[in-house]
Amino acid sequence: MTKIIFATGNANKVKEVKKMLENLDVEVLSMKEANISTDVEETGTTFEENAILKAKAIANKTDAIVIADDSGLEVDYLNKEPGIYSSRYLGEDTSYTIKNQAILDRLDGVAKEQRTARFVCAMAVIMPNKKVFTTVQTMEGYIGFESAGKNGFGYDPIFFLDKYGCSSAEMSMEEKNKISHRGKALRTTKKIIEDQLK
Ligand code: IMP
Repeated sequence: MTKIIFATGNANKVKEVKKMLENLDVEVLSMKEANISTDVEETGTTFEENAILKAKAIANKTDAIVIADDSGLEVDYLNKEPGIYSSRYLGEDTSYTIKNQAILDRLDGVAKEQRTARFVCAMAVIMPNKKVFTTVQTMEGYIGFESAGKNGFGYDPIFFLDKYGCSSAEMSMEEKNKISHRGKALRTTKKIIEDQLK
């Protein structure tokens, strides 16, 4: 069976990918399950570059299909910060309660129309013949005026969607996956892999 290695240390992401690809005739493995480890420095200047860097580091060590992603939050009023530094914003170990409050504080007094933001997810796939494919997907929304919700992770409590009238931390995982940057990137990636396996 075709093996796919998902290049992340995040167990939730692996679970998500396994679920999305369950109807393909493939075996999805985490790096741990594949017994591969790398320590990739995310030195790219875009989400896409970082996703490719992560995927290439693994693809150098295996002939399996490799998928890697890089994601983050862009706040327009903050010149697209925290962007590719989303997990490192104010320090890797700083809690999201603090990171989220800092963003709310930096937008203090800013009107709703100027609070536009988006989550971005770049996904890179490297096939066994080392061909590289990428997709970059977004979920558009705005930074709310206070935190709300307990689902999700990271910046979800301050990211609001007009259409749903709530934050992405107030949506169920299934609801969010249908419209999220990562859900869209995964569905596109699935199509790329299906086409390549034909
Ligand atoms: P990555 O694991 O290097 O892709 O880093 C992604 C970072 O972006 C996370 O640590 C979060 O801070 C942020 N992020 C990406 N997607 C989401 C999301 O769906 N909700 C909340 N935060 C997100």
